[in-house]
Amino acid sequence: MGKANQGDLEIVPSPFLAFLKDLHSKYKSLQEGAVANYIPELAKVNPDLFSICIVTVDGQLYEVGDYEQLFTIQSMSKVFAYGLALEDRGRDYILTKVGVEPTGDAFNAIILDEQSKRPHNPMVNAGAIATTSLIKGSGATERLNRMLDMFRRYIGRDVFVDISVFTSERSTGHRNRAMAHLMLNFGTIDQNIEEALDLYFQQCAVMVNCRDLAVMAATLANRGTNPITGEQAVDSRYIKDILSVMYTCGMYNFAGEWAYKVGIPAKSGVCGGIFAVVPQQMGIAVFSPLLDTRGNSVRGVKVCEELSQHLSLHLF
Ligand code: DON
Repeated sequence: MGKANQGDLEIVPSPFLAFLKDLHSKYKSLQEGAVANYIPELAKVNPDLFSICIVTVDGQLYEVGDYEQLFTIQSMSKVFAYGLALEDRGRDYILTKVGVEPTGDAFNAIILDEQSKRPHNPMVNAGAIATTSLIKGSGATERLNRMLDMFRRYIGRDVFVDISVFTSERSTGHRNRAMAHLMLNFGTIDQNIEEALDLYFQQCAVMVNCRDLAVMAATLANRGTNPITGEQAVDSRYIKDILSVMYTCGMYNFAGEWAYKVGIPAKSGVCGGIFAVVPQQMGIAVFSPLLDTRGNSVRGVKVCEELSQHLSLHLF
């Protein structure tokens, strides 16, 4: 295990680490699922990559597998962009633009709430595009820089956008473009939609590794303060908003079963990452690119189910 590069992360040898290693070897041989290919660049990922990381709110780190392997954050970015939009515009205004109801539909469903014409929640693509369009800045560059700085606070190092994944999605993301047009039609988005889509595609193409994700999750578990750097990444007032929508909507049309079986707020991405938050305790991250039909990492779901049972993490 290498030395951590995020400040003073403490790597703890323990029976718990041995448990994570066993979990890793148990599921390493599981070959179910398929890598995402609707964004052409994502299809190039090595399907065997697999890592599990846990960071506690007092800064202990446990990690196994390919935990330094970088990948694009994809839908997991939606959680953090929602926090920034809440800080920028306030809860009441954001609620007029994006709801908080689970859809029971796929992440890329082209649907808006019948009556309000809002997207159902900020975790599905339509809601995330609307959320991102609300991030403040005097132009595209300032908005992107504010977004990147927000990720830096959560992770504890500078982040960058993978340009090939960004351009790959920008040139093929017609479904997302269709949603943006629908929302422009109803006045949910009022700015230049190409600019909103670019920022959304850029936030999805931010590069992270499994350890970063666990630190980000631990920051949410620690009421918005990065447990490694001590920096406030998001206003603690919005932690309950963020974790509530993660809990009810973060796993899309698997959100109910996830809440029932695993019982903690979580978010997945088509890169194969899942991160989960145990409030006041720890952040958990798993990376394995083989996805089920709902776009959730197959090994990621299994690992989180076992961790929840083993550590009694279910909130109820
Ligand atoms: O907009 C998209 O389709 C992707 N950039 C992100 C989707 C995603 O990660 C859904 N997660 N399971």
